[in-house]
Amino acid sequence: MSQEKVLIFDTTLRDGEQSPGASLSVSEKLEIARQLAVLGVDIIEAGFPISSPAQFEATQKVAEQVAGPVVAALARANKEDIETAGKAIASARKKRIHTFIATSPIHMKYKLKKGSDEVLKMAVEAVRCAKSITCDVEFSPEDACRSQMPFLIEVLAAVVEAGATTLNIPDTVGYILPEEYGRIIAQLKSDVPGIDKCIISTHCHNDLGLAVANSLAGVRNGARQVECTINGLGERAGNAALEEIVMAIHTRADFFAPKGAPAVTTNINTKEICRTSQLVSQLTGFVIQPNKAIVGANAFAHEAGVHVDGMLKERTTYEIMTPETVGLVGSRMVLGRHTGRHGFIDRCKQLGYKLTKQEIEHAYQRFLEIADKKKEVFDEDIAAIINEEIRLVEQIYQLQYLHVASGTGTLPTASVKIRIRDEVKQAAACGDGPVDAAYEAIKEATGLAPKLESYSIKAVTGGKEALGEATVKITENGRTFIGRGISTDIIEASAKAYVDAINRMVAAKKQGEEPGLKGEL
Ligand code: KIV
Ligand code: ZN
Repeated sequence: MSQEKVLIFDTTLRDGEQSPGASLSVSEKLEIARQLAVLGVDIIEAGFPISSPAQFEATQKVAEQVAGPVVAALARANKEDIETAGKAIASARKKRIHTFIATSPIHMKYKLKKGSDEVLKMAVEAVRCAKSITCDVEFSPEDACRSQMPFLIEVLAAVVEAGATTLNIPDTVGYILPEEYGRIIAQLKSDVPGIDKCIISTHCHNDLGLAVANSLAGVRNGARQVECTINGLGERAGNAALEEIVMAIHTRADFFAPKGAPAVTTNINTKEICRTSQLVSQLTGFVIQPNKAIVGANAFAHEAGVHVDGMLKERTTYEIMTPETVGLVGSRMVLGRHTGRHGFIDRCKQLGYKLTKQEIEHAYQRFLEIADKKKEVFDEDIAAIINEEIRLVEQIYQLQYLHVASGTGTLPTASVKIRIRDEVKQAAACGDGPVDAAYEAIKEATGLAPKLESYSIKAVTGGKEALGEATVKITENGRTFIGRGISTDIIEASAKAYVDAINRMVAAKKQGEEPGLKGEL
């Protein structure tokens, strides 16, 4: 049976990272990009290079260091944006410039303050300019779904003539419904002259919870590229979730190939889905809701008696895909204090981690510390240890000592020692609870007082000896920094997370990272 590929265009690092509070450092973006390549995405949208020096650097690093997928950079429809995007992706083996301009009456009138003739001209010039840099050019009429069809067709026909190779149809504000979106894609496919030479792409936002349904309606009507993000990350309610799109196509190939039409498939290695989802969640600090489709903790859990009974008799009674298909490994090996270096390295390799000698050595030392306190070390613990290692920034502030006293009827107090380069500062403070007291003491010792925006703690695995993983978000001058800490002691994990966030804040200041144009597309 013939097959048609649906290309997966991942925009976690661009549109996903635009979600408030999801700021990633350059090295974290690189780590995610490497994992996206392992996952098998076809295109990685690495950033919006003109928007800030950090975005430029991240895009450039991904282009230089990540092989496999096409590396795309976003640019508004002007020469400076496009040339900057071109420079950022210059060293990519396969490169794409993605240029866009709004075509809806509301955006043209209020945001661009331009008439349709000018917008049409800018779109064509932008595509020509991008085409002089790379032959792979994507054009997006922003807010396409609220644009007037005749104008949308006119603009798309003109950019095809100018050399665009992918036409992306964004539902920028998440307004459209599946049937309507499907109809738009079908009409564009039949009415835009020259569109048969291009790939039609979907780009759906989730404001009405329909991003995935809309994207799939697009595929059903001829779109052969889907733009999406891991865990549906993105501004407001987010973008279409990659894992849901891929597994819908995988599970319901019959629906996408009606009456002998070619079957549609993707190039995704579905077994890497869970690992990618976890990595993005940990690096962005965006926790995955337990009932999230495909990657939520409960996505494959069966509890109701009738369901469990059915499952035991025949798995397919209540399960439409297996947890193994998305990389949730059922049977796990447990490591412990007596596992040697080789055993640990072997398990890391089996779990798919590719670490440098130094990273593996640090991770092994952390493993020993944790195995000392916790009898059994599970795969999830190893993932937490390795993610902690991967995320390391320069440890200007190090938590050397923490003592907390709290209990019923006692005022929670904490004392800390923080190493700051060659100096050790000591401080004590009271707080509303043990974590608050520890944070006050850390503020006192470091002389820094960033605003704590959010704090959460979760167990990495089940059981009373589980490793606690704390995530904090702090802000300073409008910038958010996420810190994480793991420990078998949840107060220590919380203190570590706070110190980690402070180190990130200081590292960003040192690199002179600017807030840039985030949210100003
Ligand atoms: O949602 C949108 O319209 C976008 C474009 C820049 C493609 O993200
Ligand atoms: Zn978008």
